[in-house]
Amino acid sequence: MANKRELHKQEPFYKQAKKEGYRARSAYKLLDIQKRFNIFKRAFYILDLGSAPGSWLQVAKKFAEENLEKYKDQFYYRDHYKIIGIDIKKVSPIENISTIKADLTTLEIQDQIDSYFRAKLDLILSDASIKKIGNKFTDHIRQLNLCYNILGIVKNNLKYKGNVVIKAFQGSDFEKFAKEMKSIFRFLKSYKPKASKKKSNEIYLIGLQKK
Ligand SMILES: C[S@@+](CC[C@H](N)C(=O)[O-])C[C@H]1O[C@@H](n2cnc3c(N)ncnc32)[C@H](O)[C@@H]1O
Repeated sequence: MANKRELHKQEPFYKQAKKEGYRARSAYKLLDIQKRFNIFKRAFYILDLGSAPGSWLQVAKKFAEENLEKYKDQFYYRDHYKIIGIDIKKVSPIENISTIKADLTTLEIQDQIDSYFRAKLDLILSDASIKKIGNKFTDHIRQLNLCYNILGIVKNNLKYKGNVVIKAFQGSDFEKFAKEMKSIFRFLKSYKPKASKKKSNEIYLIGLQKK
């Protein structure tokens, strides 16, 4: 009988990621979110939290590069992009992308974000997730604690009308967090991308147009 690792390798999104050069199948979750909500529209300054091994950074780079060509008009435009990924784990280098190996819940993170961007951000992505211990309720609460930290970063750093994606786990306190997030965005959507495994209780909150 195939073990968990072998089963993972037989999975269609895993195979597609291998073929298309993405570091993880998670890339397709972000591509799906983009297709539905167009979060990358005019995004040039992008922060990716919980970025290892780096497939969301690869996707972010693709859209930021497209934006440099697509939006050369009198509206909001930058002639360069800046993307930074933060993770406790090391991310192997990606050309033109910076990474910081750090815990996003620490206070020093703010200084590092400030000194890199020196401006508010267009888009903040977070696929960060706690290491599950297997108890659904405890994992849900621990993940929400991480989400509240991320929302703090969003409040401090996202520009007016900027967009955000945050991964949460469904459970009893999910609505409370969603309500708090809703208070700072014009629109809030929750979405489970096709590449998200059915048995997983992960769900993505998409905040559009920060107030
Ligand atoms: C599902 S993976 C992210 C996959 C990534 N989006 C990609 O496409 O390659 C979740 C990541 O969150 C990171 N993480 C969890 N807690 C964190 C924290 N407090 N600070 C920074 N990174 C964290 C983990 O180390 C892990 O690499």
